[in-house]
Amino acid sequence: MISGDEFSWPRLIQQAEALLSASSNRISNAANLSALLYQELAGISWVGFYFLHNETLMVGPFQGKPACVSIDLGKGVCGTAAASGKTIRVADVEAFDGHIVCDADARSELVVPLFKNGVLLGVLDVDSTHLDRFSEVDETGLETLARVYQSSID
Ligand code: SME
Repeated sequence: MISGDEFSWPRLIQQAEALLSASSNRISNAANLSALLYQELAGISWVGFYFLHNETLMVGPFQGKPACVSIDLGKGVCGTAAASGKTIRVADVEAFDGHIVCDADARSELVVPLFKNGVLLGVLDVDSTHLDRFSEVDETGLETLARVYQSSID
């Protein structure tokens, strides 16, 4: 795992809880959570949200280079995580069949599906230009942040 010396998931989760307590608006909180993650997670190139609209994932607030606007359910890492309702951690995106290339430099990816009241809302996606950037601890940490986000919104 590549992180600064100061990094700790419990601390980041506390920061997110404080930041997201200011609002229950899903777009505002997605924007602030993306900004927090982009600032705090070392070695990441893109972080953001895709929200489900009419059975398609549409890009929401994010930090990083411009991204693919829409992803069909079941397609790519994001669409597969959304369709299965399960987190997907990809050590090498080139080895993931159907990976959607938004940034040719991306090498690893972590995607957590988001739900509100049991209904699929979208996904939280993090990309890195480093191979195998995300550990099991990162996976659990991002899943916790996804729950913080879900409980913060209306
Ligand atoms: N690589 C993703 C597409 C979204 S971007 O990484 C921002 C995928 O395969 O779903």
